[in-house]
Amino acid sequence: MNKAIILAGGQGKRMKADMPKPLFKVLGEPMLEWVISACEDGGAEDICVVKGFRGEMIDEYLSGRYQSVLQAERLGTGHAVMQAEQFLKQNTDGNTLVLCGDAPFIDGQTIKNSLTYHMNNDNAVTVITAELDNPYGYGRIIRTENGIGGIVEQKDADESQRKINEVNSGAYWFRTADLLDFLGKIDRNNAQGEYYLTDTVGIAVSEGKKAGAYKSANADIIKGANNRKDLLELNTYARMAVIEKHLENGVEFTCTDGVIIERDVKIGTGTEILPNTIIRGKTIIGNNCKIGAETVIENCTIGNNVVIDTAQVYNSVVEDDVKIEHYVHIRPDSVIRKNAYISDFVEIKNSIIGERTAVSHLVYIGDSDVGRKVNIGAGTVTVNYDGIAKSRCEIGDRSFVGCNTNLIAPVKLGKAVYTGAGTTVTRDIPDYALVIDRGVLKVKEGYTLRKFKTDK
Ligand code: UD1
Ligand code: CA
Repeated sequence: MNKAIILAGGQGKRMKADMPKPLFKVLGEPMLEWVISACEDGGAEDICVVKGFRGEMIDEYLSGRYQSVLQAERLGTGHAVMQAEQFLKQNTDGNTLVLCGDAPFIDGQTIKNSLTYHMNNDNAVTVITAELDNPYGYGRIIRTENGIGGIVEQKDADESQRKINEVNSGAYWFRTADLLDFLGKIDRNNAQGEYYLTDTVGIAVSEGKKAGAYKSANADIIKGANNRKDLLELNTYARMAVIEKHLENGVEFTCTDGVIIERDVKIGTGTEILPNTIIRGKTIIGNNCKIGAETVIENCTIGNNVVIDTAQVYNSVVEDDVKIEHYVHIRPDSVIRKNAYISDFVEIKNSIIGERTAVSHLVYIGDSDVGRKVNIGAGTVTVNYDGIAKSRCEIGDRSFVGCNTNLIAPVKLGKAVYTGAGTTVTRDIPDYALVIDRGVLKVKEGYTLRKFKTDK
């Protein structure tokens, strides 16, 4: 298996935060996660992360998924890779990819293509490069007849070298055994007094080994963030790239203002996404839906022909032809079955709403199983919490729950039960019953005339 080392030691001082830079998020995921998923897509799945500043936060994020090593002092990119020596020595047969944890747009295809290039050319090291209009600050690639001769950092470059537009992305393939050899030979004789990983190129050439550059057509792989403004730019770039992918797939956007769609989201053709809509996590949305405006959907599976307008839906399933209207909050573990209708100001939690059921305005349904073709009247509340434990309510098919019904859980309404408006149901009701709980209505005529002396 190919190895990968991800350099994540940086603090990012200019971010002005007490957090390692690779943990800053682009489209909802840490930059480190983007780099990890590129490794996985590119077939370099034996990963070691080099941590430094607030390294425990890196470990907490990785939570055992991948190993890490600590670079206690920040002495340069070469020094960072040296910390992974034991990881490299575990198996020295194959190749090792080195990546920066704060350049999120490296991709699996570039990783695969550059490995093919690296192996076909029998290189000891292959640098992944790109051409920039403004190469300022990056290491410049010195090309030779049969490969590259070295990488010169901005601070070490002379006038003519600074004119070179081809730059080091900070991503490399090494033959693992050669990398171990080169690491032992890097010194600190440069303008920054650091151990430069880039010196491995010159060392390879001086040992008569081959060094090459794989130039990526996609210069975005270089993009990183040194400050909050850069991070916003990365987010804007990633946001529009995701939207463009959906446009190609036949998703409709009239205006993309405030639309944030995370990169794993899948959306069917003919679906329209309206402004200020945020779609996160592993959400899948079917065809011909209308989502938004002002809507948040996270980790949901949404069917076809669904309308969700000004609502929030989390970790739930919404089946075909459902309509969810304004200011609705669907909380985790809910299932809204086909053709159901959820009206304004409704909260649903950990509940199943059956096919063709209508839940009207101002309702709370929690921990409940609601059948088919049920009508839930306005103001109905499932009283699922007694202060100690949560209990479930069950409402049978074709029941008609009158306005302002309280269902004191645990309680079960059978099939086609009707409840009178204002009823508080405290025990199970059999099929086809009407339940009505109502005090004697008292009317005291002329009562308010004590206050209003006349009727004007
Ligand atoms: C490095 C390259 C440069 C390249 C650029 C691409 C060297 C000497 N130069 O520049 O040729 O164009 O990347 O962005 O390698 N890091 C550590 N520990 C350290 C130093 C760095 O973990 O001691 C990590 C950083 O967190 C970052 C990555 O290594 O993820 C690159 O470091 P950075 O300082 O941004 O790169 P430069 O040295 O400026
Ligand atoms: Ca630097």
